[in-house]
Amino acid sequence: MKSIITFFLLFIGICNFSLAQQEFGKQGQSVISEFDKLAQTPPMGWNSWNKFGCNVSEKLIKEMADAIVSSGMKDAGYEYVVIDDCWQTGRDEEGNIIVDKDHFPNGMKPVADYVHSLGLKFGIYSCAGSKTCQGRPGSRGYQFQDTRQYAGWGVDYLKYDWCYNEGQDAKAAYKTMSDALKACGRPIVFSICEWGENKPWEWGKGIGHLWRITADIRDCYDCKFNWGGVGVLQILDKALTINQYSGPGHWNDLEMLEIGNGGQTENEYRSHFAIWSMMSAPLMAGNDIRNMDALTKEILLNKEAIAINQDKLGKTAFRFVTLNGIDILVKALSDGDVAFLFINRNNFNIDLDYNWNFDTVYDESLENGSLYMKRIPRKIKNIWTQQEMGTTDTPLKKVLEPHESLFVRLRK
Ligand code: GLA
Repeated sequence: MKSIITFFLLFIGICNFSLAQQEFGKQGQSVISEFDKLAQTPPMGWNSWNKFGCNVSEKLIKEMADAIVSSGMKDAGYEYVVIDDCWQTGRDEEGNIIVDKDHFPNGMKPVADYVHSLGLKFGIYSCAGSKTCQGRPGSRGYQFQDTRQYAGWGVDYLKYDWCYNEGQDAKAAYKTMSDALKACGRPIVFSICEWGENKPWEWGKGIGHLWRITADIRDCYDCKFNWGGVGVLQILDKALTINQYSGPGHWNDLEMLEIGNGGQTENEYRSHFAIWSMMSAPLMAGNDIRNMDALTKEILLNKEAIAINQDKLGKTAFRFVTLNGIDILVKALSDGDVAFLFINRNNFNIDLDYNWNFDTVYDESLENGSLYMKRIPRKIKNIWTQQEMGTTDTPLKKVLEPHESLFVRLRK
């Protein structure tokens, strides 16, 4: 009798175990497929680093989340509020990451809850190395523990850096964190930030949703520093060499925006935003959005530019040609429209006189492999001024000031 009961209990146990396994399997599957469905358009939001560096706090993040709503940025599509480096101070005896109590006195969950209460999403930063770039504890050796903690707080986005990596293999390091995110029970966008050093565009798809392609952006249009900092044009030139790797769910990350931080002219900031829009780059504002001047607001909130960035086809612009220092970028859009950006790279005024008649733009995504602007006369709309600029039947003319861009959408 005893052996029958033992057998019966064992049988129930096995059934439960296999049911539990199936359940776990299902959950695991669904989290993985949810992971794959994230970031179908380039992520939009705000990140603390460019403007505030290590000066992050609960107060700052809440004020920034409020400002995203009150400024109209939320309605325009900005969604993720991301705390960059310096929110963490150490690990407790169980290995749990310790939040800086001086600046986040209530821990991280109430901050995430607040962000969520406004209908926004919450992001955080860590590093694949033993320390972050500012010397705070990194996630090396703690990946699964950290992502469980993030999921408990309600994290929706993780930016993952590459300082103190101690010679790890980049793909393996990012894959480990990706596996940890996929196992944590919460869909979290994964932003790979190894500065393009190990060609993440070649292996990042499926591991993360976006990857940095250069060293850190500087608030300048055309500049390059010995230590690696780069300006807008330097990032553009890199992005144009790898545009085929970017698409829905896997984006080249051209870096966080500098618009509103004061280092560039109006023409340069407009070009910066137009380039990011054309290149389908994540749009993470990097300025103080609590008090933006009219120009900054106008740029960051331009609905037509954002629509080009967020176009569901997810194509990235290619450089059709450079004429007299004017780069001509072309991006195919899902409704058959085409966006054009004419960028004056020169430090002087230059006459743009573009004859659509003679130019054939070639890209496999455009109809029949090519687009004859003359044969299909299209209406031209200026993205910044919202004015109609005639059709492609006549040449497009404009004096472009130094670093100015003409940003237009051609309608069918
Ligand atoms: C690196 C990253 C930056 C920022 C800092 C924080 O430099 O590339 O974007 O996250 O670390 O320390």
